[in-house]
Parts: sequence; C-alpha cells; structure tokens
Amino acid sequence: MKKAKAKVVITAGPTREHLDPVRFLSNPSTGRMGFAIAKAAVERGFEVTLIAGPVALKTPKGVKRIDVVSAREMCAAAVEEAKAADVFIATAAVADWRPAKCAARKLKKDEMSSVLKLVRNPDILKTVNATVKRKGNSDLKLVGFAAETGNPICEAARKCREKGLEFIVANDVTAKGAGFGASTNRVVILDKFGNRKALALMSKLAIGRRIMSLV
Ligand code: CTP
Repeated sequence: MKKAKAKVVITAGPTREHLDPVRFLSNPSTGRMGFAIAKAAVERGFEVTLIAGPVALKTPKGVKRIDVVSAREMCAAAVEEAKAADVFIATAAVADWRPAKCAARKLKKDEMSSVLKLVRNPDILKTVNATVKRKGNSDLKLVGFAAETGNPICEAARKCREKGLEFIVANDVTAKGAGFGASTNRVVILDKFGNRKALALMSKLAIGRRIMSLV
C-alpha cells in the first residue's frame, strides 16, 4: 500500500562529544538551517522527522523531533528513520572526532593529560548510503551540505560524489550574512550531474523552500 505522505528526515545542529559529564568537543552550529528546511518541508506536505543535536530552537509545527547529543546517537537515529524515508537531508555539523574515552564522573584537572586522544566518528551520510540506500531503500534520495571557509565549490563537488548525493548545498561560512547562527545564507547548489546554481543572499527559510522544491 502506498504511503499517504512522502517522508523526509533531516539532521540539524551540532553534536557534542563528551570526555566527561561536564566537558565536550563541539562547534557553533545553531541548527537554524535544518529547522528552516523542516518548516519548508511541512509546508510542502511532507511527513517530517528532525534529528536535532543540542540546540535552543522551537520545533516547527507538525514536525516529529528526535533529540540526540553525540554523532553516534545521531547516526543510529538517522539509520533507523531513513529506512522508511524518501529523502534524507544532512544539515548537521557533525563532530568528525570524539574523545577515545568518556569518563563517567567529572575528571579532576590533575587526572587529565595535555594531550587528548581522539577517535573518528561515523560519517552519517555515508552510513545511511551504505546501510539503508544500498540495502533495501534504494529510492532514498540523499542531500548534503558543505560548510567551508573560502571557496566551497571543489570540496562540495568531491563530497557530493563520495557521499552518493543527489545534490549538495555549499556555503562559505566566513562570508557576510552566511554561516553559523545567521538568519540568512548565501549558497551554491551543485548536483550529481555537475550542474551548479548560485542563489542570492536570502533567509534560511527561503533557501529551505528552494531545497524542498528541488527535492
Ligand atoms: N556529515 C555527516 N557525518 C559526518 C560529517 C559530515 O553526515 N560525520 C555530513 C554533513 O551533515 C554534511 C556533509 O556531510 O551534509 C558534509 O559535511 P562537512 O562537515 O562539510 O564535511 P566532512 O565530510 O566532515 O569533510 P571535511 O571534514 O573533510 O570537510
């Protein structure tokens, strides 16, 4: 039986990688871009699941929200939700590394070393591609973001190819009116065929609507 609504799953915000209950590695992502896409997706009639790292934003109306903290938690939720999804959009600023050990209690400074041993986190897009799209849900469309400092085009094209994406939304996070926490963004959309479209500076909601019309 056909589903009533197409389902989109969106990751948003930062992840936190704890080394003890009071210390973590993270980044300045606020989740605004992902939340704006979630809102635009509801407007378009999608069933929307938003997997959010620790952010201070209100859940858009009509969105199912799953709160996570670490990259591994985000990855597990993404794999689970993507199984029945039509579109997976990764806007989260996932921490690529985590501390090799996380202590159960607060570490005293004298117990810590000046060198922190890190291990790699899973790449969520690649994991969803390998374990969901290539194993059962072959119609799933993957969309990614590329946040770069400086010209994002080359890196974005590489990420689009390597992560098996339909298209990637690239931006220079150091550009005026763009980047972490801003209400606006200036992006270039590159698709898997090599087509490229630069959008003017606009609100993150307007960009979310453009992305959903491409989807
Ligand atoms: N991404 C992901 N899982 C990760 C890292 C990134 O799913 N562990 C996703 C992001 O949500 C984004 C895309 O991959 O949609 C590109 O993320 P970005 O941080 O720009 O690139 P990285 O793949 O981390 O590559 P690099 O660190 O080399 O720039």
